[in-house]
Amino acid sequence: MQFDRPATTNPIDQLKVVGRPIPRIDGQLKTTGRAMYAYEWHDPTTPYAYGYPVGAAIAKGRIKSMDVSAAKRAPGVLAVVSAPEVGERKKGRFNTAKLFGGDEVQHYHQAIAVVVAETFEQARAAAALVKVDYAEEKGVFDLREAMDSAVKPDESQQPDSAAGDFEAAFRTAPITLDETYTTPDQSHAMMEPHASIAAWNGEELTVWTSSQMIDWWRSDLATTLDIDKQKIHLMSPFIGGGFGGKLFLRADAVLAAFGAKAAKRPVKVALPRPLMMNNTTHRPATIQRIRIGAERDGKITAIAHESWSGDLPGGGLETAVNQTRLLYAGANRMTAMRLATLHLPEGNAMRAPGEAPGLMALEVAIDEMAEKLGINPVEFRIINDTQVDPEKPERPFSHRDLVGCMKLGSERFGWSARGRPGSKREGDWLIGMGVAAAFRNNLLLPSGARVRLDREGVVTVETDMTDIGTGSYTIIAQTAAEMMGVTVDKVGVHLGDSRFPISAGSGGQFGGNCSTAGVYAACVKLREAVAQKLGFNSEDVVFENGEVRSGNRSVPLAEAAGPDGLVGEDTIQWGELSETHQQSTFGAHFVEVAVDVATGESRIRRMLAVCAAGRILNPITARSQVIGAMTMGAGGALSEELAVDIRRGLFVNHDLAGYEVPVHADIPHQEVIFMDETDPMSSPMKAKGVGELGLCGVSAAIANAIYNATGVRVRHYPITLDKLI
Ligand code: MOS
Repeated sequence: MQFDRPATTNPIDQLKVVGRPIPRIDGQLKTTGRAMYAYEWHDPTTPYAYGYPVGAAIAKGRIKSMDVSAAKRAPGVLAVVSAPEVGERKKGRFNTAKLFGGDEVQHYHQAIAVVVAETFEQARAAAALVKVDYAEEKGVFDLREAMDSAVKPDESQQPDSAAGDFEAAFRTAPITLDETYTTPDQSHAMMEPHASIAAWNGEELTVWTSSQMIDWWRSDLATTLDIDKQKIHLMSPFIGGGFGGKLFLRADAVLAAFGAKAAKRPVKVALPRPLMMNNTTHRPATIQRIRIGAERDGKITAIAHESWSGDLPGGGLETAVNQTRLLYAGANRMTAMRLATLHLPEGNAMRAPGEAPGLMALEVAIDEMAEKLGINPVEFRIINDTQVDPEKPERPFSHRDLVGCMKLGSERFGWSARGRPGSKREGDWLIGMGVAAAFRNNLLLPSGARVRLDREGVVTVETDMTDIGTGSYTIIAQTAAEMMGVTVDKVGVHLGDSRFPISAGSGGQFGGNCSTAGVYAACVKLREAVAQKLGFNSEDVVFENGEVRSGNRSVPLAEAAGPDGLVGEDTIQWGELSETHQQSTFGAHFVEVAVDVATGESRIRRMLAVCAAGRILNPITARSQVIGAMTMGAGGALSEELAVDIRRGLFVNHDLAGYEVPVHADIPHQEVIFMDETDPMSSPMKAKGVGELGLCGVSAAIANAIYNATGVRVRHYPITLDKLI
């Protein structure tokens, strides 16, 4: 549909409901435990059985033989399905390693069997009786070692870019920096594990699961099971966190489907926490070399960013140089990414893939450069702002206010009180402040919805959009309420069901803007249907206070709907915008830390994020997204690291005791400010993504604050105390 109408005819611009701080409409269901997550789905008349997965105990090789006889004889066991017995299967389009089937082992804890029993405990006990004989092969598990053999991936991954002559400009620049930074493998570590219930009815399969992307999962499950996609009904109404780990079909859904077929019963499978780190995806580690050259006045003349990461054969890059192509001016530039083959578990998207680890390096390099130049790091970033794509200057940003974020943030945070490195001390604590820019691209995906108006005047939205804790239910209700001229309590929202129109889904921070734009489009259709039915002129029709008006006529919506109700359905899609304009989101992170002078322990004291991300659809849910992201960035800076066993090829710390995510006590004070802006090129909502922006740059701001406190520059995350002493 078209949306390039004057602002005054876009009902969203009224901002009667959209943009308001409405508490989440699913909040009560969640806080009272009535929101049904996948594993909890329960029909008292259904005899559920429980599946427990068995993960491979080697990283690479073959299963020579598998003895499941003892497991089959164990109490309560209904079925044991093994990967060799299932045989080779096609894998899903979005999966790098197969999820189940055949005798090849591609990574540690790849699923090789599922044991189904009457109870969860019986299934778990029997799973321990499965005996496997492996032919183990040698794998490569160390990125540092594999770096030299890393290759340039195919063009679809855009591994290199260049403008001007970097090498020459860098050679002649009066002030230069050439440093290498590393980021570790990280895990999504969401609260709700990957979990599914599968129930067969003849050839028809119903799956309750925990998925960010309903349609991707449905397609890939059909491929993996080799059945018709239309025969699968997939539901994921509530999700206890995803962070990218639930973008792509995972083994729980596949094992539940095979287990249910074998046991002839509906089967529940949740991945046990110890299996998750190695069975599912993770954010790949990176090695990043950054070179910057500048004039003495602070103008960057040369900037280069190279990144190395690894993945299983057929896998992809961690695109850590993305932001460096767009964030700062500089006539001479180059970026490059190289991919090594590693036989660790599959790498894939984790919140702000690319930019999150990329900014962990770039924004420390910028801080180092500012210091070499003797320029305030806020000022250095402002000097090098650009309003156009620096690699393709004919492409302006649709809207960019990094400078505004930096200025407002430094004023609100009290940045002028920052001292020289190591100069502030309170008792045993060294105090420091750090800043970093936030940057994340704004992605646009097609998104559809169906909106019904019934004879009670109630508006019901149906879309396969998901709510991974982000607030989708609420902003979708606000959008429909604004468009149809009703209050939010007159709107019902149904999400996460494959029977509904295909949405953008939840990923890449595109979900909020794109899914509400899809609801907008469906509401336009519904408004047209209402106007047409009443014989109203659709040019002057107004939807307000539960009524529809045209000229001097006004009809209550309930009456307009008639006994059978009315429906509008549409999908919104953007055209060639990315060719002409660059769409990105911007922010500034400010952090104050205290570092114990004796132990090297770092404590965060205050954090402030200023975000410029288009229209904020709901300041409560948007703020929650940003403070959650800032918390994740604190983990990235200080504690989160999957520890690689480079002899056996696995992540050793595979639980929440060993993989340390921040807790409340780690985060004393967070503030978020949103710039008052709209981006008319992003969608009729004029909003952009904010959920990943909040993570981008935070870890570097913390690293820079630690440097300011101590005078010690750490370039290898996480900044644990051993690296400071
Ligand atoms: Mo995000 S990593 O696309 O869920």
